[in-house]
Order: sequence, then C-alpha cells, then structure tokens
Amino acid sequence: MERLQKIIANSGYCSRRKAEQLIIDGKVLVNGRQVTDLGSKASSSDVITVEGHALKLENKEYILLYKPRGVVTTTNDEKNRKTVMDLVESTNRLYPVGRLDYDTSGLLLLTNDGQLTNLLIHPSNKVEKVYLAKLQGIVDPALLKKMSLGIVIDGKKTAKSKFKIKKIDKKKNTSLVELTIYEGRNHQVKKMFKAIGYDVIKLKRERFSFLDLKGLTSGEYRHLSIKEVKTLYALTKKQGRD
Ligand code: URA
Repeated sequence: MERLQKIIANSGYCSRRKAEQLIIDGKVLVNGRQVTDLGSKASSSDVITVEGHALKLENKEYILLYKPRGVVTTTNDEKNRKTVMDLVESTNRLYPVGRLDYDTSGLLLLTNDGQLTNLLIHPSNKVEKVYLAKLQGIVDPALLKKMSLGIVIDGKKTAKSKFKIKKIDKKKNTSLVELTIYEGRNHQVKKMFKAIGYDVIKLKRERFSFLDLKGLTSGEYRHLSIKEVKTLYALTKKQGRD
C-alpha cells in the first residue's frame, strides 16, 4: 500500500504536488469511490481514476547514467564483467535504451518503459546523439565533410550527420571531433570514422536529445523528471512526423 499521491505521480500522470491538489479537488476515485483525504493509501490492485482517466499502474522508472569506460551495456554478461546494471540501484527490471560499447563512456538511459525505448531507438524518430571522439591522426576536414553527407558502413549508407573539429594536437598526432548522429547502428561512430581512414581511440556520448551529463561524474546517475519524460515522448511524436 502506498499513498495515493505517490502512486499517481509514479504513474507519470503529474507531479506529486499536482496529485495532492487533484485529490483535494475530488478528482480522484479509488475503485469508483471519491477520495479526498491526502493520507489515503491504495495498492496496484486498486482501480484508480484521475480526472476520468484510469491510471496505468506499472511503476515506470527512468535513469540517466554517466556510463564509465570498462562497463558492458547488458543486463547480464557471460564473461562476468561489470554491467551498467551494477551501477544503479533499482527494484525494477530496467533495460538500456540502445547501447554504448565497453570502451565508450557517457550518457545512457535505462528504463522499464518499453514503449518509450522503442520510440527512442526507432530510426524514424531521428533522436539526436552527440559524441566526442578522439581520433588517431590529424583529420582532414574534406573527409569529415564527405562522411557527414552519408557514408556506407556495413553495406548501407548512413543518414547525414554533423561534425565540429574541437582540437588538433600535432604533437600527439590526435584530433578531437564532435559528431552528431541521428541513428543508432552498431559501433556506428567508430565505423563512420574508420570508413574515412581514422581509428577512434576514445569515445564519449555527451548528449542524447536535450539530455546531457551536467551535474554527474563518471559512474553516477540520476532519475529523469516527469517533465523530461514527457518531453521525450513529445519529441518522438513530433520528429516522427517530419
Ligand atoms: N558508436 C560507437 O562506435 N560506439 C558506441 O559506443 C556508440 C556509438
């Protein structure tokens, strides 16, 4: 049994404060009976209606993890390596939204919301992903331009991407390039650079749509706010129509 306002907020319907107001306003029914007491409790077997809408009571959870290098993006690794699941505490069965390689760090979402996962990884939704790649060698801007217009990897041309050269280190013979892609194919960034002749020696995902790593250090995580989850849903609907 949990407090009604918490159940409503956890369902993603609205914030806990808004839920309290809805309860006070008599807009919440439990098993068909109006409940206006803020101390009321309910369980997942109760039918809860808010403003005429029946709540979906699955407890949805959304985590934004700053994945460190040296961790696998699976729920269970057959080689017994550390997985992203070892880094978060949750009573839910969470799954990663897409994948980052073992040696890639950066932003990874974990959730038990399969619907949102499918929307976010579907190529038609063109979710923006921003990577920072350290390359072996000094990049040729003309080759980057060619790559950004679409390049064949695994027999299929990539969608257009954007790039920015952030730093050239002539002494170390390395280049730092920011790459923005809108798909999520296997090892996509490494393969795109390889296709124009460069090896990626370090890779970090800095952004996933409007979400970034601000406030987190490697290995840390936070929960998304209701507003962020709603924005992700809204974004996939909007971009899917383009
Ligand atoms: N592209 C890659 O090559 N590796 C990642 O981990 C993510 C994108």
